[in-house]
Amino acid sequence: MKKIHEVEIQNKNILIRIDTDVPIENGKVKNDRRLRASLKTLKYLLENNAKVTIIGHIGRPDGEDPELKIRPVEDKLIELLGTHQNWQILENLRFNKGEEENDPDFARQLAVGQDLFVQDAFATCHRSHASTVGIAKLLPSFAGFSVQHEIENLEKISKDKEKPFTVILGGAKIADKLPVLKNLTSRTQNFLIGGAIGSTFLAARRHHLGESLVEEEAFRDANIVWQSITDEPDRNIFLPIDLVISHSIKKAEGVRVIKTSETLDPETMKEYAIDDIGPKTVEEYKKVIAKSKVIFWNGNMGITEVPAFADGSKQIAEAVAGSEAFSVIGGGDTVGFIENIGLADKVSFCSTGGGATLEYISGKDLPGLKALE
Ligand code: 3PG
Repeated sequence: MKKIHEVEIQNKNILIRIDTDVPIENGKVKNDRRLRASLKTLKYLLENNAKVTIIGHIGRPDGEDPELKIRPVEDKLIELLGTHQNWQILENLRFNKGEEENDPDFARQLAVGQDLFVQDAFATCHRSHASTVGIAKLLPSFAGFSVQHEIENLEKISKDKEKPFTVILGGAKIADKLPVLKNLTSRTQNFLIGGAIGSTFLAARRHHLGESLVEEEAFRDANIVWQSITDEPDRNIFLPIDLVISHSIKKAEGVRVIKTSETLDPETMKEYAIDDIGPKTVEEYKKVIAKSKVIFWNGNMGITEVPAFADGSKQIAEAVAGSEAFSVIGGGDTVGFIENIGLADKVSFCSTGGGATLEYISGKDLPGLKALE
């Protein structure tokens, strides 16, 4: 992979792709972590008298969307860089269909007048878009510092053979996460499962989970993955042994803690939903975490938006932060949660990526990185 500090950049016109996909509320950037991740590269370019054109996307718009305009990002970058000299930012790339279609004409428009391209948005490197792959065919292309930093840290967990390696998986989107489970089977000693993924595994194993979030279309694959992990010697997959349940995942109403085995009875969960892992599960998972040498965590253990259902994730976060393991957190929700409870700088690395991080960890080649080779 070609790196930005290995090329002459003085006075060059440079197109840089950064990760502008940040939450926006009332016309303001709500969390600027992804923008801050590219400050080192942006400052390096500007200090070397480059003329910088920044590109990025926000959300998944279908055509132009006033809510997803780039202006709030521009305002935040002016604040973070302390200057608006020698750089400009283009409008949300995804307002143009050519971006996601990787249209060569759109890539050519982006390349006009530029001497080279810098990829500094690791979180989009799993997409084959005009601004990740198309552009790299037209301009000499280099990885920025943020992309390099991601790879250095994620390589430690994908290549490092230190044991035990523990993967903590929660949240939803089981279809995205099953390949990670599958591909990490030979390398991982412990899988600690919670969130809607945990519920999907349980429901696939004939537990009756009432109103809980489960992904029925993933039952078959969940069972296959379960079998492949349990068939391997020295591999453990843990599901919650107790559960926090209530009448709604939106508010704490009729909250109870039950043993998971009670959900084998079709009556137990009628008008109930799972909100969090229970206290016995937390204790069991904490013991595994304490013995781990390497940890990767993606996806919260419960509905952390409701404070009463955030306890499981909070205790897991404290255990990870307090462990001596090399620990990596991926995915917007989990990183956001860890930041909110003030533990982000207590873990080894918080990745800027969501889907890209999962794909990288599961051993897939990311097209946006391949394009830099
Ligand atoms: C992300 O939020 O993970 C990246 O910005 C990629 O966004 P996408 O999943 O909409 O391509």
